[in-house]
Amino acid sequence: MEIKSDIKDSLELKFSKLASTYNRQGKNIISLGLGEPYFPTPKPIIEEAINAIKAGYTRYSNPMGLIELREAIVEKLMNENNIYVNSDQIIITPGSKMALSLVLSAILEPGDEIINILPCYPSYIPQIKLAEPNCRINNIDLTEDYTIDFKKLSSLINNNTKIIILNSPHNPTGKMISYEELIEIERITRDYEVFIISDEIYELLNFSKEKHFSTASIDGLSQKTITINGFSKAFSMTGWRIGYLVAPSILIPTICKIQQHINTNVAPFTQRAALKALSIPKDYLFKYNNQLLYNHETLQKEIKNNQFLSTSLSKGGLFSFINISNTGLNSDEFATSLLEKSLVACTPGVNFGENWDNYVRVSLAIPNEKFKKGISHLCNYAKFE
Ligand SMILES: Cc1ncc(COP(=O)(O)O)c(C=O)c1O
Repeated sequence: MEIKSDIKDSLELKFSKLASTYNRQGKNIISLGLGEPYFPTPKPIIEEAINAIKAGYTRYSNPMGLIELREAIVEKLMNENNIYVNSDQIIITPGSKMALSLVLSAILEPGDEIINILPCYPSYIPQIKLAEPNCRINNIDLTEDYTIDFKKLSSLINNNTKIIILNSPHNPTGKMISYEELIEIERITRDYEVFIISDEIYELLNFSKEKHFSTASIDGLSQKTITINGFSKAFSMTGWRIGYLVAPSILIPTICKIQQHINTNVAPFTQRAALKALSIPKDYLFKYNNQLLYNHETLQKEIKNNQFLSTSLSKGGLFSFINISNTGLNSDEFATSLLEKSLVACTPGVNFGENWDNYVRVSLAIPNEKFKKGISHLCNYAKFE
């Protein structure tokens, strides 16, 4: 019997497994590999979920999502993102990852082309292949200072291009797509019937002084854009599995049908908890973003003094990407031996794109003192290896 064989396990998984084996052996690993905030889900959200279970939000429900949650998202998009839609354009999904998967399945057909920017979140490519094995993925690498190669984008876009995927703030580099870059994307895509998937899951994790611009807020892009977002990162709800997509009306019936067949609906009590999340004060996020900034500054200082490492500035999200070319090791060798010798876990860059094997990703989502220790070990390792 033949079974699907070209879906790769993620290297991220390999390293987190290795790290937990070491931890079980009593070795104290500092993990700079984690992609989730370390603060717990805020209490009012947890209490709302418990109350909602008690109140009977436990049964099958509308595959689009609870209307009260979709209406609250309409308000949020209007007030915070400059996006104007109605609640029928929103579907609540089990995480933003599933939102992405539903959109890809709804749009892609054999022979379609998709433009993807590398390095990228490791699930994008497997998800595209699962949605449509016979589509062509045209990858574009970011430049070294993390700008989009617009020449390449212009040369790749054609009448078969169905989707361009954007992610801002970006995993793994921490890049935020600027207003000017979005304007350029609008100009390049103007004459094409192409959808833009804009993954904005890290929107509220912004430790720069720059504003986050939603792709769908740009004139000329609003009709083309599917915004993907969720509750995992800003509300520390990674295990709850809840996200959403905002799409042009024409796509909604198809996406909704796929959701019905695959997920039925997101647990209604989880949706009530997400509704609560939208209404709580966000001062804790201000504090958290400052902690991310502090770690980012620590990283910059340590790396400045290290001739074997370099990095460009991150602005948002949870990560920084470090160039390790001068160590002479590839990213898997670097990460494996760093873990064995210095008990620090990071994620090999090759996981995010084949041309990024001279980078490793570190998570900034670590308590400040522990982060400082981890980065100092990483820098010493690079010097003496
Ligand atoms: C860029 C990006 N998109 C989507 C996701 C998935 O998030 P969720 O927990 O909402 O599925 C992640 C998680 O790490 C991510 O980094």
